[in-house]
Amino acid sequence: MSANQDQRVDLAAGVAVKSVANGATVAGRVGDDDVVLARNGDLFFAVGAHCTHYRGPLAEGLVVGNTVRCPWHHACFDLATGEPIRAPALDPIACWRVERRGDTVFVREKMSPQTPAPDRSLHPSSIIIVGGGGAGLAAADMLRRHAYEGPVTMISADADPPVDRPNLSKDYLAGEAQDDWIPLWPPDLYTERHVDLVLRSRVTSIDAAARTVLLENGSRRPYGALLIATGAEPVRLQIPGGDSSHVFYLRTFADSRAIVERAQSSKRAVVVGASFIGLEVSASLRTRGVAVDVVARDRPLEHVMGAEIGRFVQNIHEAHGVVFHLGQTVASISGRTVTLSNGKTIDADFVVVGAGVRPAVAIAERSGLAIDRGITVNEFLETSAPGVFAAGDVARWPDPHTGENIRVEHWVVAERQGQTAARNMLGQRERFDAVPFFWSQHYDVTIRYVGHAERWDAVDIDGSLEAQDAVVSFRRAGRRLAVATVSRDRANLQAEVELEGR
Ligand SMILES: Cc1cc2nc3c(=O)[nH]c(=O)nc-3n(C[C@H](O)[C@H](O)[C@H](O)COP(=O)(O)OP(=O)(O)OC[C@H]3O[C@@H](n4cnc5c(N)ncnc54)[C@H](O)[C@@H]3O)c2cc1C
Ligand code: FES
Repeated sequence: MSANQDQRVDLAAGVAVKSVANGATVAGRVGDDDVVLARNGDLFFAVGAHCTHYRGPLAEGLVVGNTVRCPWHHACFDLATGEPIRAPALDPIACWRVERRGDTVFVREKMSPQTPAPDRSLHPSSIIIVGGGGAGLAAADMLRRHAYEGPVTMISADADPPVDRPNLSKDYLAGEAQDDWIPLWPPDLYTERHVDLVLRSRVTSIDAAARTVLLENGSRRPYGALLIATGAEPVRLQIPGGDSSHVFYLRTFADSRAIVERAQSSKRAVVVGASFIGLEVSASLRTRGVAVDVVARDRPLEHVMGAEIGRFVQNIHEAHGVVFHLGQTVASISGRTVTLSNGKTIDADFVVVGAGVRPAVAIAERSGLAIDRGITVNEFLETSAPGVFAAGDVARWPDPHTGENIRVEHWVVAERQGQTAARNMLGQRERFDAVPFFWSQHYDVTIRYVGHAERWDAVDIDGSLEAQDAVVSFRRAGRRLAVATVSRDRANLQAEVELEGR
């Protein structure tokens, strides 16, 4: 495009101060780069316009103090340095120098990245991360960003390096993402950042007194600080035929590849469970033209998001041809025949089970760590053993917002906990106080959810779910505990800030 066809605001040519309200952003360009100008009081910042997670539009995000939050999955960047302060973005955004002259601000040259000087006095001699998921990788990333120079070893039972797990039920399964989109780090980065990745290996226990971990192959490894980020494991069907080779579970990249391969030569599938994963799998299989029957005890998502959103999500799937068998479980699977608890049979080429997960606490159990439906951690994410931290789906932490000990299965929470645990392994004392956030995608509809409401006594809807434009608030005793939104991304960010303020 030639310069005079370019409709973007030329930020280098200057913008009137009065045209940018406090907390507002202006999307524009500097040369060929997409840049956002953001204002916090008398301070102006210019940063790259696209979030480094999935290129979300930061101009449509929320400026909070000297930070900007992405509207898509709530990554948070420091406007002065470009640093990704909170996952899911792991890479910084570029920053430009801003100059104010009278009533005009001009965006000047791009600045070099700034790295804070590390205080290494409290750094441990070495760090082991058990688990190659979102929490583990975000921790390794943060350790190196904080200039930790000791050895970092990541031991993972997975066959693949850490992957973008949420994508495994979405674009990748639907055939709309390439294999090379899925790894969280490119392969070379492990070497470049000196992270020793040990795959297909299982830690069986920890000797916290001797500061060693024991591996399944009998070897022992010493550590200075340890992070347990073993995540969760799918609940297996305990029914006749439940272990057949055409019954699939979805947790790993290998699981997703196996389902893709099966779907390519199949016409019909049964999905067991109307959980997030079950429903996302259904949507992806429908995108591939596979007929889907969902068998589930309860209405989709009802116990997590209430009857209104449950009906809304069910309608979306039915409009795409999914057939629901609610109030049912699967009694047996024999070849192509799936028999339900009411005796009805469904013909299927394969079955995908999304019947929930259980936290992977085996190591903690064997090692005598405190457990309460997950590994118990304090506000700094430290377990009952000093120097041993836990993060992600496996950890139950004291949530300051609800006053309850909670455990959630959200990608962003897992990564943020990995980041906080990493900083604390380096001697900081940072409380984990982020408000939980997750998203779920059903065809072209994305639901974003912030807060945490295991129980509520009132739900109010601003807007219309049918029109796919709504803010749904979950309240208990009049207090707003959580907010789900459809097509109201900024409202979701504003709710996050409101919930943080409690
Ligand atoms: C298909 C799918 C889609 C999802 N979609 C979304 C979504 O849209 N939004 C959202 O918020 N969340 C989503 N989630 C949930 C999200 O992915 C999890 O919350 C997140 O992965 C948890 O990260 P984690 O690091 O705690 O655990 P995991 O990512 O499960 O990683 C655990 C790691 O520990 C390893 N491990 C386990 N035991 C051992 C052992 N003994 N020794 C060595 N290694 C071990 C495993 O091999 C694995 O590498 C989805 C999950 C799945 C499976
Ligand atoms: S695109 Fe910005 S957080 Fe995902």
